[in-house]
Amino acid sequence: MLENAILVTGAGRRIGHHIAMRLHQAGYTVIAHYRTRTDEIQVLEQMGIKTVRAEFNNSAAILQFVDELKQHCTSFRALIHNASSFAPTSTDLAEAAAQYEQFFNVHMMAPFLISQGLQELLKGENDCPADIIHITDINVENPTPRFDIYGTTKAGLHNMMLVLAKKLAPSIKVNAVAPGPVLFTSQHSAAVQQQMLDETPLAKEGGVEPVYLAVKSLLDNPFITGASIPVDGGRRLSKR
Ligand SMILES: NC(=O)c1ccc[n+]([C@@H]2O[C@H](COP(=O)([O-])OP(=O)(O)OC[C@H]3O[C@@H](n4cnc5c(N)ncnc54)[C@H](OP(=O)(O)O)[C@@H]3O)[C@@H](O)[C@H]2O)c1
Repeated sequence: MLENAILVTGAGRRIGHHIAMRLHQAGYTVIAHYRTRTDEIQVLEQMGIKTVRAEFNNSAAILQFVDELKQHCTSFRALIHNASSFAPTSTDLAEAAAQYEQFFNVHMMAPFLISQGLQELLKGENDCPADIIHITDINVENPTPRFDIYGTTKAGLHNMMLVLAKKLAPSIKVNAVAPGPVLFTSQHSAAVQQQMLDETPLAKEGGVEPVYLAVKSLLDNPFITGASIPVDGGRRLSKR
């Protein structure tokens, strides 16, 4: 059985994979969640990280994941809710309805049930409360119309951070890290990428390490809760 583990959801690629790897390198016991088995998951396993597969597509599957975590781990130092679906809203209403269910399950239902389900097992250390960290998006404050389902469900994740910071204090801190343009996806055309860079005061794609550094700074700080750290090169100031 593992003790004082940090759960990272959506660790099968990109930002989640990097956070899991860097936390392991920093000496934490990490449990990496994934949906699709990727080469990156095999890399984490080769490093000695426990991995658990789950698809957050309904409450029963999420609750089963919570039960499985309890079989592997007696206590948690932190939960990092990183798993996410990102796509523009469909113009077809039936498809948009399916997107809403999918995005709600991954951005809101899963973080809620995992945090509530593991609350009793979250333990701080050395006078520092335990942590729950929501990986949100600068879109929660200045949304992009084409991605309104993504943005509104991420805004729900932001609001959940605020209410859980009240509800779970003083034994658990709850905060958010809100990335901006850290790692472009296939949804971003070359023109959109250029526009995003033009709107970013620090004028570059930030990369995954700054997101890890924000997560680590929250783990290290015993007196921050209910806060959101933007990791966006300043884009929230000028985003149209
Ligand atoms: N990349 C950026 O510049 C940026 C900007 C703003 C905010 N963010 C936020 O930062 C976080 C990481 O971003 P990213 O670009 O690394 O994300 P990503 O590449 O889209 O990866 C998301 C992860 O979540 C998993 N996932 C998606 N739907 C799931 C479901 N229904 N059940 C279980 N797992 C599911 C995916 O698994 P599969 O591999 O199976 O799809 C994947 O491993 C996200 O929360 C995102 O919103 C990123």
